Amino acid sequence: MPDPANRIESGSAAETLSDTSPVSAACGGMDRRQLLALGSAAVAACCLGSSTEAFAGLPAPAAERPKKGDWLVVADAGDHEGKVVTLDMLTAGGAMISAWPVDAETKTTRSGTRFNKVLVVRAEPDKFDESTLAKSVEGVVAFSAVCTHQACAVTGWIPEDAMLACPCHGSLFSVGEGGKVLGGPARKRLPILPLAVDADGMLTVADAFTAKVGPAAQT
Ligand code: FES
Repeated sequence: MPDPANRIESGSAAETLSDTSPVSAACGGMDRRQLLALGSAAVAACCLGSSTEAFAGLPAPAAERPKKGDWLVVADAGDHEGKVVTLDMLTAGGAMISAWPVDAETKTTRSGTRFNKVLVVRAEPDKFDESTLAKSVEGVVAFSAVCTHQACAVTGWIPEDAMLACPCHGSLFSVGEGGKVLGGPARKRLPILPLAVDADGMLTVADAFTAKVGPAAQT
């Protein structure tokens, strides 16, 4: 398997954040623009804090699948963790961002299950097929981060070939062809989470996943 470039390992610090902080408690009354203005640290505390409910055994709504109107926050550990994902954070062939959807009404980060995590990449849209183009924004596409073979975390991004790669058994998925399997043992496309963009450049979810996430046997 090609050595994935620009790879960002998946992961979340949701477990480490408290949902009892004052910032978190105030989140419910804020709209998206207010959250965007807060910056990454506050948004991380605000949006990711509520996800602790899921780890305490309360699956909803943090474990509910993303839906139209959700926005995305960075899931990768680091300086940008919890930051709202905007179009200008991604460049064609640049680094991949792993992200959690956030419920637009309750501000709940949907990090209660890794089956909600998405990989956001940007590639050249003139190489996209029609279906993928319709689900993307200026070359930005969001895919499920769960491999359709045996549910490993897909962590590889090979920008020169516009492919996503699973490290477990080497399955390769085409970005421009809607997650089509290009190699390895997977037999099912990687589902897309269709995207839109708002007037502030925030990426939002335009529709539900194009297919059930993960291996067919588990969905
Ligand atoms: S679980 Fe991804 S290739 Fe096997």
